[in-house]
Amino acid sequence: MTIIFESDCNRLRVFTALTGHDEDPVAEEVGAGLKASSKTLPSKYFYDARGSKLFEEICELPEYYQTRTELALLERFGPQIMEGFTGGDLIELGSGANLKIRALLDAVDAGQRQQLRYVPVDISETALIEAAEHLLELYPDLTIMGLVTDFHHPIDRLDPSRRKLFLFLGSTIGNLDEVQASEFLSRVTALMDDDDRFLLGLDTLKDVAVLESAYNDAAGVTAEFNKNILSVLNATLGADFDVDSFEHLAFFNRDEAQIEMRLSASREMQVAVRDLGLSFTLEEGETIRTEICRKFDRTSAEAMVRSAGLHIAEWYTDSDEVFALALLEKRSTAS
Ligand code: SAH
Ligand code: AVI
Repeated sequence: MTIIFESDCNRLRVFTALTGHDEDPVAEEVGAGLKASSKTLPSKYFYDARGSKLFEEICELPEYYQTRTELALLERFGPQIMEGFTGGDLIELGSGANLKIRALLDAVDAGQRQQLRYVPVDISETALIEAAEHLLELYPDLTIMGLVTDFHHPIDRLDPSRRKLFLFLGSTIGNLDEVQASEFLSRVTALMDDDDRFLLGLDTLKDVAVLESAYNDAAGVTAEFNKNILSVLNATLGADFDVDSFEHLAFFNRDEAQIEMRLSASREMQVAVRDLGLSFTLEEGETIRTEICRKFDRTSAEAMVRSAGLHIAEWYTDSDEVFALALLEKRSTAS
């Protein structure tokens, strides 16, 4: 089931639609990850209502430089990015609190904005609907069509006749491994015409201490966010994780150029996941990897998007290259 909502006279009209991908393979993914000898969980499980709120708190943390740096880039380069983009769809995948789209909406005049449609896509229903309601208060004339769905599923509700600017911000691409990222980017490329664009936010490789402190904040919000994934599994799949018996770990893996977030069992324990008919033992100190956050430079970003038939047309960054926005186009078959 996909939940769809549309703006209608300054209000949201919410309805649901059956889709061809209603058999959600997530439960199987969870089972496979927990049965493996090196245990993993899909990071999309962070984002229930509480997880989405915790992520919003992370964005405000002094150690988490990403949100403010990317916002500043969107404010600075917004007019260039939006130049000539009239009468099209701004399709934001993993849109969360809709904070960043405002920089692009503010980069155009009221006439241009009226011809745009904003299409936020996110798995977190409460975050998406609340964020869209707030956006409508700020921009009462904005046309919005929101989709509560997994962005790994085919996005089949778009209007092929409209111009498109896809947005995947916050370096959420870094949370996908190489194969997932390539499949995801290829699915987006398949929805693009030659004059469509794709704006990709990327966190860059930098000093390891800076990277690690962004995921080990002094206030402990990231630790709460990390542990919330176990509460989500307890609530949605009938698991019995003792959340307080886990410790948050986040460190940079140089070989893979990625931060890894893990939860480490502080004692040996038996865990059952009722809805999957699964039970397993965790040894003291054994970890479950809950997220990877890959870091890029222009060369690694170019290689990643190339494999999906795209190329970097513009690379917008700050003077210290703390964060980057890559404006992507489809690669012509000759290049
Ligand atoms: N783009 C925002 C939010 C980033 S947080 C920003 O830059 O601040 C990542 C967002 O992606 C969350 O809102 C989360 O709910 C969403 N998300 C994570 N995995 C998803 C998936 N598989 N499908 C759809 N949304 C997903
Ligand atoms: C959403 N994503 C890009 C964030 C990141 O930095 O990888 C999620 C996050 N995890 C811990 N802190 C923030």
